[in-house]
Amino acid sequence: MTTTPHRPRITDRLDRPFRDLRVSVTDRCNFRCPYCMPAEIYGDRYQFLPRDDLLAFEEIARLACVMANLGAAKIRLTGGEPLVRNDVEKLVAMLAALPGVEDLAMTTNGYLLPQKAAALRDAGLGRLSISLDSLDDEVFRKMNGRGFDVGKVLDGISAAEKAGFSPIKINAVVQRGVNDHTIVEMARYFKERGHVMRFIEYMDVGTRNGWKLDHVTPADEIIARIHAEMPLEPAESGYRGEVASRYRYRDGGGEIGVIASVTRPFCGDCTRLRLSPEGRLVTCLFSALGTDLRGPLRAGASDDALERLIRGVWSDRGDRYSEERASATERREKVEMYHIGG
Ligand code: GTP
Ligand code: 5AD
Ligand code: SF4
Ligand code: SF4
Repeated sequence: MTTTPHRPRITDRLDRPFRDLRVSVTDRCNFRCPYCMPAEIYGDRYQFLPRDDLLAFEEIARLACVMANLGAAKIRLTGGEPLVRNDVEKLVAMLAALPGVEDLAMTTNGYLLPQKAAALRDAGLGRLSISLDSLDDEVFRKMNGRGFDVGKVLDGISAAEKAGFSPIKINAVVQRGVNDHTIVEMARYFKERGHVMRFIEYMDVGTRNGWKLDHVTPADEIIARIHAEMPLEPAESGYRGEVASRYRYRDGGGEIGVIASVTRPFCGDCTRLRLSPEGRLVTCLFSALGTDLRGPLRAGASDDALERLIRGVWSDRGDRYSEERASATERREKVEMYHIGG
């Protein structure tokens, strides 16, 4: 991948630069994690987006190219579950070829990696984050809402290792009373295998998961519990805007991260824009619907016109939901997490 030398630096109302694009390629998923797509709501009759409403790969690549010219050096593919979109590796190849894209990553639940990992690597995917909430089958079966055993995801992780992804980030959402008793076991298991375990504070994304503050296990508590068994020390952040706070094991055996969006919000450094499967541009993870790009795109807008539109969305943004959460009183319209990815 090449770097564009004279890229503009666009900033928003809080002086945040635009750096990352997160592309959700589908609103569908083969899991039904109750904190994201509760099975009672997303049942057989739930109407997901029809095929024609989804952006085609060529359309995503065109928008990504315009955004790479505006500063997006990092692109992450998400969903829903990105691997349920047919031939997603073709999109990976198109994005990997874009000038200016220095980092191309994907967040997946891992279930389809045994079939897909090698093709993704060959297509030019640089990094993988795999979601896994517990190593305890009973806990995990409940947390994926489909009764799948942990082995399914571990097979996916092995396939990713074999395909050459290294290190792999393993993401676990921590919910008090649900899986918080299994975090030390997870940290130990992935430490031994050289992967980077990251614990995510359960967030109030979307409107359908019945989130309450007392369902959150604060990052400080997560770190303290692991530190008591395997001593840790804080590590410097990898880059401006990194969402995870990093800690390294004192014995030199790698690192872990915590994503503390509830107890230590990181909106001040938010450099992310999100593209939904049907082509809406969403700034904050907690925004309402976003700005439609598919309409102008399909009506024949030029690259310059698209660039102006996207630049306008970024310059106008001043949102910082996680920092305001504590003081917010009104209930807001919010996009669902599975619709725009994590
Ligand atoms: P790296 O590129 O490896 O640093 O990964 P990342 O941490 O940017 O990406 P990943 O998709 O793995 O993010 C992990 C989790 O962090 C997501 O699943 C979300 O739960 C949370 N997260 C990511 N971006 C944001 C954000 O902008 N705001 C909030 N509140 N949470 C976020
Ligand atoms: N809080 C925190 N993280 C969440 N994710 C989904 N819903 C939530 C939530 N309510 C994470 C998943 C996965 C990524 C796609 O988003 O665990 O790692
Ligand atoms: Fe699917 Fe990920 Fe949502 Fe779980 S958290 S239902 S795996 S999109
Ligand atoms: Fe960015 Fe919104 Fe997340 Fe804050 S809550 S870091 S503004 S996406």
